Amino acid sequence: MAKIKTAFFCQNCGTQSAKWIGKCSICGEWNTYVEEQIEKEKTEEKEKMWIKASTAHKPILISQVSASDFVRIPCKDSELNRILGGGVVPGSFVLIGGEPGIGKSTLLLQFALSMHNIRVLYISGEESEQQIKMRAERIGVPFNECFLLCEANTQKIFSHIKDISPQIVIVDSVQTLYTDSLESSTGSISQVKECATEFMKFAKETNTAVFFIGHINKDGAIAGPKVLEHIVDTVLQFEGERQMVYRILRSLKNRFGSASEIGIYEMNSQGLKPVLNPSDILINQKDYESSGTSIASTVEGNRSLLLEIQALVSSSAYGNPQRNTTGLDIKRLSMLLAVIEKRVGIKLGHQDVFLNIVGGLKIDDPAIDLAVCIAIISSFKEKPISSKICFSSEVGLGGELRTVTRLELRIQEAQKLGFQSIYISKYNAKALLDKKFNIKIFPCGNITEVLKNLFA
Ligand code: TYD
Ligand code: MG
Repeated sequence: MAKIKTAFFCQNCGTQSAKWIGKCSICGEWNTYVEEQIEKEKTEEKEKMWIKASTAHKPILISQVSASDFVRIPCKDSELNRILGGGVVPGSFVLIGGEPGIGKSTLLLQFALSMHNIRVLYISGEESEQQIKMRAERIGVPFNECFLLCEANTQKIFSHIKDISPQIVIVDSVQTLYTDSLESSTGSISQVKECATEFMKFAKETNTAVFFIGHINKDGAIAGPKVLEHIVDTVLQFEGERQMVYRILRSLKNRFGSASEIGIYEMNSQGLKPVLNPSDILINQKDYESSGTSIASTVEGNRSLLLEIQALVSSSAYGNPQRNTTGLDIKRLSMLLAVIEKRVGIKLGHQDVFLNIVGGLKIDDPAIDLAVCIAIISSFKEKPISSKICFSSEVGLGGELRTVTRLELRIQEAQKLGFQSIYISKYNAKALLDKKFNIKIFPCGNITEVLKNLFA
């Protein structure tokens, strides 16, 4: 008998190695290498069971490809629709990752139930039909042509798929799937990879949209970072604090739309509801003004948001001052603290600094820099900033205000929410010369200029 070919895979990051090693050289984890079979026995029938001869691809001139083949299926869920780039693309392969209990199964079941005149197959390897039915009753959408299948073996799944030929297939979750062609255990890196590859071929060859739910490991990667993310067309991440009602669906990669789109949902007793006016929840409603808070106008994907930034600066009791952030990169905070020390002259070396972005959002947009600096300075000076003022500018190392993208959108959102004034970079102001807004715009060159205006 031929020798079975095996290799060792890091179960944390998916790195392959010819021999066993104790510490993964890529992710640094210990004892994560497991031997898995990599060569499968190939049978013609298994390989090609879903291909109808007519759909097998041949070379074709790009000019002869008809664009009308690419008709998206619109979703009822406005947030998901936007994140996917305007509906579900037939033949696309979408991966949704998130921590356990965040609401991935709820989101996709809700999506499956909301489809009308579209045949959807919801496959679960985690829950029984009764459990799914109970969840569906809770969501309260009238049942339609959504099929359920509780099965984890991909060969059996494909034979059922052949019988009902669905247009959308949802798999909950990739870690429960297994294929007969591999010996390794369910959930192992090679199983996950092989099952995903089988479904990818299936999606492309039958033009069926496939949605995969994937659990994430403790570093936030879906079944190992390099394993699935390059196979699929779209990667969405479902995040949020489990204790809070708000959830954020974020697109990390999208071959058919923008890759930095977000959708905000509220989890209530009847499933997930899209939040249509997110700025309302990201700004604390309060009837007094306290020091250390400021409002930033930011853009995520195609959507503008206003959010509240809270800072607390207090003298450090111990030698080592603490710097702590929620929602902002700690390195960015250190840089902004250095700018405040050097360019504004406020000494923060003996102060603890805590920074929080309200609502549990993680923001990478550099346009919140100015609001972060102002919140810190406001807390240090114990002088509140009016809640009718907002900020939108990046701060450079020289303390200068730098231009931001899509300024008009940011100003319009601030105006819509009734803010009276917005501070922006004066280098951005040229773009606004011929525009009229009902909000007072303060173009400034650097952070000291902003402070002079604010605390005059
Ligand atoms: P679930 O979709 O099972 O999470 P995941 O598939 O990501 O593990 O949902 C988990 C939580 O959502 C669970 O704690 C119960 C809660 N939930 C609601 O609050 N309202 C609802 O209508 C539903 C269906 C679930
Ligand atoms: Mg689930």
